[in-house]
Amino acid sequence: MIERQTIDEILARTDMVSLVSSYVSLKRAGSNMSGLCPFHSERSPSFTVFPADNSFYCFGCGVGGNAITFVRRIENLDFSDAVTFLANRAGITVREEKGAEEPRVDRNRFLQMNKIAARFFHSALYAEHPDAKAALAYFTEERKMSSATIKHFGLGYAPNDFSFVNYMKKAGYTDDELVSGYLCHKSDKGVLYPAFRNRVMFPIIDVQENVIAFGGRVMDDSKPKYKNSSDTPVFKKSRNLFALNFSRKNAAERLILCEGYMDVIALHAAGFPYAVATLGTAITSEQARLMARYTKRVIISYDSDEAGQKAADKALRLLEAVGLTATVLKIPDAKDPDEYIRKYGVERFRGVLDQSKTKFDFYYDKITAKYELSISQQKIEALHELCAYIATVPSAVEREIYMKETAKRLDVAYGGVEGEVRQRLARLRAEAKQKNRTEAHQALSGVLDRVNPDYSKAPRAAKAEEAVLGLLQLYPAYRTKLLGDEPLLTEEDFFTDLGKRVFLFILQREKEGGFSADMLDEAFTEDEVGRITKMRVARMQLSLNDEGVFLECVDSLKAAVAEERRKKDDGGGSVGDFLSFLEKRREEQ
Ligand code: UTP
Ligand code: MN
Repeated sequence: MIERQTIDEILARTDMVSLVSSYVSLKRAGSNMSGLCPFHSERSPSFTVFPADNSFYCFGCGVGGNAITFVRRIENLDFSDAVTFLANRAGITVREEKGAEEPRVDRNRFLQMNKIAARFFHSALYAEHPDAKAALAYFTEERKMSSATIKHFGLGYAPNDFSFVNYMKKAGYTDDELVSGYLCHKSDKGVLYPAFRNRVMFPIIDVQENVIAFGGRVMDDSKPKYKNSSDTPVFKKSRNLFALNFSRKNAAERLILCEGYMDVIALHAAGFPYAVATLGTAITSEQARLMARYTKRVIISYDSDEAGQKAADKALRLLEAVGLTATVLKIPDAKDPDEYIRKYGVERFRGVLDQSKTKFDFYYDKITAKYELSISQQKIEALHELCAYIATVPSAVEREIYMKETAKRLDVAYGGVEGEVRQRLARLRAEAKQKNRTEAHQALSGVLDRVNPDYSKAPRAAKAEEAVLGLLQLYPAYRTKLLGDEPLLTEEDFFTDLGKRVFLFILQREKEGGFSADMLDEAFTEDEVGRITKMRVARMQLSLNDEGVFLECVDSLKAAVAEERRKKDDGGGSVGDFLSFLEKRREEQ
C-alpha cells in the first residue's frame, strides 16, 4: 500500500501531455491533444489527452483514465508498480504504508531473481563438466558463434541436475517464487525441480534491460525443441520481442522480424544489429505496436517453408495495421536467415535484404505460384484472385499501381482489371456498411457491453445514470448534495451494478474527506476506469453543466429507474406472477 498523499503528489507532478508524448505523437485538437491510440490499431486519431483534467480517453476503444491507468496499460504494470514508475519519473521517493502490506508480487524482486538465474546459466556454460563443455561446443562449433556473441546475448546452459534449484534457494528465493517465475516446477510429490534441464539458454531482456524470461533449446533432435517461460507476473510473451533491447538503438531505418532466436543472433553477429523475434508464438498486434514505437519499416524474414510464409502473411497485415511499412524477405535455397548466412555469407544476405519484396510482390508471387499461367483458364483464375486481393487494399493510389502492375505482368487490358476490382470493391463496401449497421445497432442496444452488462436492460436509465455520475465526478458542489441527513441520491436511485458501485465509491470517498477521479484505479478494473472516465469526458465536452442541468439529470435518472421498477413490479411477467394472477381471478369469480 502506498499512501494516498504520495499518489496525489505524484499525479500532481505528472503532466499527462508529456507522459503520453513519450509513447504517442500528439497534435493539438482544440483545448485537448490527440493522436493514434497506442492500445488499438487505428488510422485516424481518436485517442485524446485532456490537459485540464490530466486524463486521457480513446473514443475508439474506450480505454481511459489518468497517468496511472496509462502506465499500467502501456508498461504492463500493476497499480503499485505503475505508481513507482511515475514516482521515479517525477523524482519522488515512494513511502510504503506500514502494516497494511498485503502479499503481492514484488516486480523488482522477480526481476532480480531472473537476473541471478541468468548469471547462473551463463556461468554454467563455462563449468568444468563434460555436459557444460558439450553445451559450449554446441554454440561455438555447431552454431558457429563467437564467444563475443555468446557474452553479448548472455547465453547460458541449464544443467541436467538440481544445482540450479539449490543455488536459487540459497540466494533466498522461495518455492512459490521460483514456481510462479517459471524457473522451477513442482512435482506431485512436492519436489521442486528446474524448469529448464540440459538445454542451452536464451535470456529474454526487455527494453529497460531487465531479464524477464527464458527460452531453452535442446542440443539434439529431441522434442520439444524449445521450451519458453510462460507468462509470469512480470512477463507477457505477447508484449515483448527477443533482442529488442539491442535492436531499438539501431531501429531508426528498419527492423528485421525473424521467427527464431537463432536467426536473430546470427543476424546481429553478421552486422545487422536490428533483428528481433517473437517469443515462440505468432506475432500479436501488441508486438506490432511495440515495433512501431521504434521504427517505420519492418522487413519480415520468416522461414521459407509454407508455415513461415503463412505467418509472414499474418505479420504483414498486423504491421500495416499499425502504420508500419512492411516488406517480406524471400530467402532462396535455405530454410531461414541463419542457415542462409552460414551457407552463402553476409554479403549475399545483404543482397537478399535489399530485394525484400513489397507487399504487392509478396501477394503477386504467392497467388501466381499456384497457377500455370500459360493455360488461359488458370491465368483467368489467378487474375480473379489478384483482383480480389487488390480490392482489399485501402489506399486508392496503391490500388491503381497494383492494377497497372497486374495488367502489365499478366499482359491483359488495364480496363478489364480495373472493372473487376471496381465491382469487387463495391461489393466489399456494401458488406462493410451492413456490418457497421449491425454493430452500431448492437452497440446502441448495449449487446456488446462487457464492462457494464446491465446497460442493455434499460438503456434510458443507464444513460441517465452515466450523466449523473459524470457530473458528480467533475463538480465537488454536486457531491456535497450526497451528504447530510437528506441526501439527494442513494444507492437505490442507480440502476446498473457498475453505476451503484461507482456511486458508492464516490460517496464513501467524499465522506472520508473528498473524492477525486484519481482514486478510481484503487477500486475498479482498467476497463471500468475507462468507462467511468468516459462518463466524465462526455460531460466535459458539453458547454453547460450548471446546477439546473445536474438536477434535471438527477430527475430523469430517478424517473427512468422508477419506470424500470414499475415494469418489474407489474409482473413484467414472471411465470409465478402470472399463475398467482390467474388463481386470484378464479377466486373472485
Ligand atoms: P525454429 O524451429 O525455426 O527455430 O523455430 P530456430 O530458432 O530457427 O532454431 P534452430 O535454428 O532450429 O536451432 C522458431 C522459433 O519458434 C519457437 C522458438 O521461439 C524458435 O526460436 N519455437 C520453436 C518454440 O517455442 N518451440 C519449439 O518447439 C520450436
Ligand atoms: Mn533455424
